[in-house]
Amino acid sequence: MKPEIRRFFRKSLLELSPYQSAREEFVSDGRTMILLDANENPFPSETNRYPDPMQRELKQKIADWKKVSTEQLYLSNGSDEFISQIIMACCEPATDHIVIVPPTFGMYKVAARTYGVAVREVPLDADFQLDAEAVLEAADDHSKIIFIPTPNNPTANSFDVQALKKIIQEFPGLVVVDEAYIEFTDQASFIELLDSHTNLVVCQTFSKAQGMAGARLGMAFAHPELIRYLNRIKAPYNLNSLTLAAALQCLEEQDQVQEQVAFMLKERKRLEAAFTEIVFIKTIFPSDANFVLVRVDDSSLRYQQLLDSGIVVRNPSNNTACENTLRISVGLAEENNALIRALRTLDT
Ligand SMILES: Cc1ncc(COP(=O)(O)O)c(C=O)c1O
Repeated sequence: MKPEIRRFFRKSLLELSPYQSAREEFVSDGRTMILLDANENPFPSETNRYPDPMQRELKQKIADWKKVSTEQLYLSNGSDEFISQIIMACCEPATDHIVIVPPTFGMYKVAARTYGVAVREVPLDADFQLDAEAVLEAADDHSKIIFIPTPNNPTANSFDVQALKKIIQEFPGLVVVDEAYIEFTDQASFIELLDSHTNLVVCQTFSKAQGMAGARLGMAFAHPELIRYLNRIKAPYNLNSLTLAAALQCLEEQDQVQEQVAFMLKERKRLEAAFTEIVFIKTIFPSDANFVLVRVDDSSLRYQQLLDSGIVVRNPSNNTACENTLRISVGLAEENNALIRALRTLDT
């Protein structure tokens, strides 16, 4: 069956001729060339030249790592930029909408509203799991994208794979599976399903386990034709040279990343065990990520008390079904010790 990727995109975008940057017209054959094409400062430094707009070297390394082709890969200035780009690319303002499954990551709604795109909400069930039937019932021809983060933020759990597969198979628009926390779970990445599902886009990030939140680097994986459309609207130099260099370095240090992930998972278990002894923590939700969502007696009070003790957590209580919750990231051992001490002091 011929994939009809075009139908996911706005018509005006299909007709757009993208901006051609100086460095896209010239592809190096390995010779040292005199570069007089981009009005740069010729004095050498780490940043005097524009970066490669197509990020070829990094894409090849990531493609090898994730076992995809470079044509299936789009790199963005953090997943946040990809989320905005895909909405802009696919949703006609004031006509189309996205679907989200609250409680969920806040950027999907913000990005959609920024472009005048409506948001349809299908809440998770009482166990913070997907209600696949309700999602499919809520969808129509204007449902251009559904965003599903698994493990989910702020609830920290992974979604049932069968429910997610059902949505991928039957949803009329694109399904973006946001795997920002994939390194912390035993679940397989949905990248494996890309070849058989042309409406599937998987995004991952260097911001969490990879330790590069400050560098801003996101990855999206999808059918090559879909990636080509995304490339048409990206800013020519959306990733800077410093980020590209840091990411190449990070890929060389995956043993260290794995050690850090193992440490964070061990520390998460220690925190969860300590939380069970705190009387004002009423529920500890199961976590598959590097953070824990807990329900407390009074989240505003406990949030403020922790701030007063010098500890910043997140109070996601105004999210659907998250009344009186706190979202707590796993820190270094001494930071986690300080948190446990503060909680015990507040409990007395
Ligand atoms: C589910 C999810 N997706 C995406 C992001 C943002 O990732 P990035 O830092 O790559 O923009 C976050 C950040 O908290 C997140 O929780």
